[in-house]
Amino acid sequence: MTIVAQSATWHEKAARLKLEGRLFIDGDFVPALGGKVFESINPADGSVLAEVSSGGPADIDRAVASGLKAFKAGVWSRMSPRDRMAVLYRFADLIEAHKDEFAIIDTIDMGKPIAEMLAVDVPLAVLCFRFTAECIDKVQGSVGATSPDVLSYVLRQPLGVVGCIVPWNYPLLMTAWKIAPALAAGNSVVLKPAEQSPLSALLLARLFVEAGGPAGVFNVVNGFGPEAGKPLALHNDVEKIAFTGSAEIGKLMMTYSGQSNLKKVSTECGGKSPHVIMADAADLETAATWAAMGIFGNQGEVCCAGSRILVEKAILPEFTEIFRAKAASYAPGDPLDPATGMGPLVDFSQQKRVLNYIGIGKQAGAACLTGGGVPVGLEKGAYVAPTIFTGVTNDMTIAREEIFGPVASIIAFDGYDEAVSIANDTNFGLAAGIWTSDLGKAHRFARDVEAGMVYINSYMNGDMQFPFGGWKESGNGRDKCMDALISYTQTKSVWATIG
Ligand code: NAI
Ligand code: MG
Repeated sequence: MTIVAQSATWHEKAARLKLEGRLFIDGDFVPALGGKVFESINPADGSVLAEVSSGGPADIDRAVASGLKAFKAGVWSRMSPRDRMAVLYRFADLIEAHKDEFAIIDTIDMGKPIAEMLAVDVPLAVLCFRFTAECIDKVQGSVGATSPDVLSYVLRQPLGVVGCIVPWNYPLLMTAWKIAPALAAGNSVVLKPAEQSPLSALLLARLFVEAGGPAGVFNVVNGFGPEAGKPLALHNDVEKIAFTGSAEIGKLMMTYSGQSNLKKVSTECGGKSPHVIMADAADLETAATWAAMGIFGNQGEVCCAGSRILVEKAILPEFTEIFRAKAASYAPGDPLDPATGMGPLVDFSQQKRVLNYIGIGKQAGAACLTGGGVPVGLEKGAYVAPTIFTGVTNDMTIAREEIFGPVASIIAFDGYDEAVSIANDTNFGLAAGIWTSDLGKAHRFARDVEAGMVYINSYMNGDMQFPFGGWKESGNGRDKCMDALISYTQTKSVWATIG
């Protein structure tokens, strides 16, 4: 009864929200120059949430010009570190004060359970701004060892206008991971949110100005990839593109850089991460709990999802049974109900894509142990039931391509060497996990596996100082951590003859 009541409360709060859909440029909400709009859709029921301004090249030009003007004026780029810190702390406080609003907006815009928004996305976004603000006056240059008649030093300065292009799976959090270090370092930002989840960035923009952020420093241009993202990435006045999304588009970012001004490019491009369960794991229940979270959490729409679950043959039947039971706790349902563990996918096209992969898995001869389709009773939303394939081999398409949905592939192996060889047999290299009670084996795995992040007897954990990013086609950038902030600066070497 209380759960029903709580769910009704969140629906009422959602109905009362006034959603802003215009672009945010130079400190103001403005329509797109061409007047074009698109609809933002709630994937839980297909209803239209808002009309959103659809930016194009002229809007990008306007936003970049406003960012550049603010940068050159020094209103932010030359603000004293302590003052810039104060603005970002106030910004973090305001995000926290609006936590329910952010939670509702991303939930209705892209389908994730409101409980996850409140427990994970919003608090971690707030933490990201606080951590990054704390780092601002810790950035240092250096002085070189030279002959006494010379003073040689290295300054660290902001880049200028930074373009951030983000995906829809964690709209608020991925935006925070990009804009917090970019702003902290003194840059101006033009953000291009994903067209599937355009709304929370607009609330963020309003709060930045409310926190004391100068006009023009943070701009938001919604729109589609080729119409708004591409001109941003090709812009000659943009000094860096920070991108999270598919490897296909990540590669394009580097091409765009080469076709324009050789801007810096950082990419985080997802993966096909191996989650290895050794027979000597201390506790299969715990391993299965984390394995389920690793592929069914956030509907499996997670770049570091442990989508390939490698299980040692000696424990295969036992582990599979426990894992199937854990999957049951991710029953799809109304994402505004705080008791729901899995919402719909981001939209109907992602649902189609994931169902297509499920078909490909069945055709290849993998056995569908559970799920495998649209859950009964939820046909009006973009839902896919948590799905487990067994008997998967690493050459199957479902083991090679990023599905970005709640689809687990169980792959059997014999012994450590085979586990590592299967783990590394992929174009990606974002995350990897291992469950074992053998300390040596655990650290050998950390040494041997080709991945940017390794979890031992854990999965998808970490905090703000834990660098987040991948090897191979999972990209070249690192989010979070002090290094991320540094990556939004450039050095200037100064050589002074002092007599
Ligand atoms: P995407 O890579 O197309 O979109 C990511 C961002 O790039 C969005 O803001 C989009 O508007 C923008 N974009 C697209 N084309 C562009 C272009 N030519 N120039 C500039 N910006 C452009 O990903 P999409 O289509 O939303 O999802 C497809 C697949 O990509 C997913 O099924 C998943 O496998 C993967 N993906 C991975 C993510 C990750 O976190 N690593 C996040 C989102 C998607
Ligand atoms: Mg949407």
